[in-house]
Formats: sequence, structure tokens, C-alpha cells
Amino acid sequence: MNILVIGSGGREHALCWKIKQSLKVKKLYCAPGNGGIAQVAECVAVAAEDIDGLLKFALSKKIDLTVVGPEAALVKGVVDAFAQKGLKIFGPSREAAQLEGSKVFAKEFMHRRNIPTAVYKIFASAFEALKFLDKAQFPVVVKADGIAAGKGVYVCDHLKKARQAIDEIMVQKIFGNAGNQVVIEECLQGQEASVLAICDGKHFFVLPSAQDHKRIFDDDLGPNTGGMGSYSPAPAVTAKLLDTVIVRIIEPAVRGMYQEGIPFKGVLYAGLMLTDNGPFVLEFNTRFGDPETQSILPRLKSDLVEMMLAACDGRLSELKVQWDPRSCVCVVVTSGGYPGPYKSGFEITGLSDVNDPEIVVFHAGTKNDGGTLVTAGGRVLGVTGLDKSLEAAISKVYEAIDKIHFEHMFFRRDIGQRALKLTINKHEN
Ligand code: AMP
Ligand code: GLY
Repeated sequence: MNILVIGSGGREHALCWKIKQSLKVKKLYCAPGNGGIAQVAECVAVAAEDIDGLLKFALSKKIDLTVVGPEAALVKGVVDAFAQKGLKIFGPSREAAQLEGSKVFAKEFMHRRNIPTAVYKIFASAFEALKFLDKAQFPVVVKADGIAAGKGVYVCDHLKKARQAIDEIMVQKIFGNAGNQVVIEECLQGQEASVLAICDGKHFFVLPSAQDHKRIFDDDLGPNTGGMGSYSPAPAVTAKLLDTVIVRIIEPAVRGMYQEGIPFKGVLYAGLMLTDNGPFVLEFNTRFGDPETQSILPRLKSDLVEMMLAACDGRLSELKVQWDPRSCVCVVVTSGGYPGPYKSGFEITGLSDVNDPEIVVFHAGTKNDGGTLVTAGGRVLGVTGLDKSLEAAISKVYEAIDKIHFEHMFFRRDIGQRALKLTINKHEN
């Protein structure tokens, strides 16, 4: 088969790396890809959101399956455009992608389907929102309705910050039309975890749990990032808890979308807060998580292409999937300064010294500059390792990172420690 992966980050490298292992693959392309993806796929210079360009490419190369990485193309309707031309594509339709593309849609859907989520109110007027905030109990969370490159959520401890959020989102319109409406919701307390399910519109199967680390600095300090590391499985998501997540969240969501005439195909990603009252949905995403995918896919023993084809064809209920029981950890190595301004173009050295077969280095922001691999983004690499325990996987990954170098490189030293503490506590109790 000819396969096209859309996107250019660490998630897409992990997808290409796993897809390439399938015996079904004849030719693998990635649009636009990056310096590491180029080692497993042919990178094509078409932007991930250029739907017409992607479509033209897929038709000309007789692509049999397209896999969409990032959300922007989904929300813009890449799946609908491909399906109209009879091309097979793994991901939700534009309408179904609203579960990620519109927080208002997602909250109203969850409310209708009785899926646990924070109590909320929706506002289309800044004046009404401010009036509500004057009487609100703090903390609250203010969210821009639409996609805001991961920056549209403000956790507000006090009125001043919430008023500023409304001003930025609805008055200054720093996220454009994504700020036409806001959701103001109760602030939930607990640990966060992600549960991802592959869906075929009617059936689903759940991937092993994972957790990411959103803050830039150790001990979860500093500003939010796209993700500084992840691990799978997440000890916080016990088998019992996962069962609750399936029964209360995943199953009603897939059934609800089907019953409302918007069957959900692709990856449904539930971002959860594990509260004392059980798991609550913070957000739905409609794609693989980044960097969760980097720590989930190395544990997949079965053929990912077969899984995606089964999802496209509505055959998920027949599928048997095998997982590696070992732990997987991904530590993201960034350009110093990220998530603020940073410099790029520095040579990356030492990758060839990383020769442990259980380590994979996924590239997020790299490019090949005339034969030299250089940094080309905030998140540069995702160094990923598998081992029999989480602890062993963590030390293996940090040993590998010690061999890698580029100017101003930065990474967190505590990826997975939170889970490790939980595991140790469990053993002690
Ligand atoms: P979201 O994009 O909706 O997942 O929000 C980004 C981050 O904001 C989440 O990962 C949480 O850390 C935080 N967050 C969002 N909603 C809430 C909430 N209702 N209560 C507490 N934290 C939240
Ligand atoms: N890891 C968070 C996300 O993919 O949105």
C-alpha cells in the first residue's frame, strides 16, 4: 500500500516509524515531515493544513491510506475532502472533529450524554461573561471556544486574571474567531491522565493509558508547553479506573456521536482529571496525543496499519491487538527558551552513539541542512525507551540523552518520577 502521514512533529515520526514496520507498506510519504521522518518516509513539501495540496498529492501518488496527525487539518475538513474523492483516510470528519475544535460543542455534547465534566457556562458576550465572573467562586477556568494552539485555556485563581482572560480572548481577540465564545468552568483538582481510543464510528478499542508532562520545568513548574515527556502505562490509571473511564466516558461518547448522526472515526483522546469523585473530562482531542503517542506506539506489537484500516472500514470489533507489557518513557529535548522565543539551526550531535536497540529517538523539530542535522523547532527530539520497569526505562532514556548534544539544549530531569512515586506508595501500602 502507499501511505501518507500528515504532520511534522514527534507524534508523526512515531506514527511513520510504526507504520513502516507493517508488511502492508510499499511506499510511505509524510507531508511535510522533518529531518528524522526523512529516514523512514519520503518527505513531501506540502503543508499539513493545505488540504487542496494534500488531496492533489494523494491522488497523483495513488495513496491507499492517509493518516492525519495534527488537529488543524481535521477541523478544516481534510477527512471530508479525501472521502469525497473516494480516498481512505484515518481520522474524524469535520463535524466529528468539533469535539476538539469547539469547546462549546464538546461541553454541550457531554452535558447531553451525561459524561462527567466540570460544571460550566457558555458566553458569547464579554459583558455577560464579566458579569458572571463578578459573582463567581474562584478558582475558575476560562477557555476560548475554538482551537488556539494549546494556549486558549486560563486557569484563574482570582477575578483579575479571569477578567484579563476574557479581555484577551473576547475583546482583543488574540485567538481570532476561536474567541467568539468562551466556556467558564469549575476548576477540578487531581492528577491528569489521557485515555485514547481508536474508533470506527460504532466500535472502539482503548489504547494503554499514558500521562504527559505539560509544564516546562521539573516538579510541574513554569508555563505550559506542547508536552515535555510521557510514559505508558500510567500507574494512576488502574484497571478499575480504566473500566470506569470506558463505561462513563468513552462508550457514551462513541455511542452518543453515532446516535446524533456524527459517527466518530479515528482517535478519540479523553484528557482526564482524576478527582476524588472519579474521572472527569477536561477536554476531548480527536487525534493521537503528542507526546503520548511516542510512549504508546513502541508498546504496540500488532500492525498499526491493520488497526487503522479496520477503523476506516468499520471492522474494529474483529481486531485482536497485542501490547508489550513493559514500560515506555519519552523525554522531550527542547531548544532553550521554549515555550518562549528560542534560536534554531544548531547542529545535533551524538545520535549515532545511541545504539541501545530499545531506544528510539523520535524527531520533533529537526531538519537536514545540507547533510547536517540541525534543530528546527521548540521541541527537538523525543528520546524514548522501553524496559521492564518504569524506573529502568527512565534511566535508560537519560543515559541516551547524555550522549546527545546541541547548543542550548534543555529537558526535564523528572519525567516519570510522579508515576514512580505512585508505584512505590502502592507497594508500601
Ligand atoms: P485543555 O486544553 O482543556 O485540556 O486544558 C489545558 C490544561 O488546562 C489541562 O491539561 C489542565 O491542566 C487545565 N485545565 C483545563 N480545564 C480544567 C479544569 N476544569 N480544572 C482544572 N484544570 C483544568
Ligand atoms: N499531550 C497533549 C496533546 O496531545 O494535546
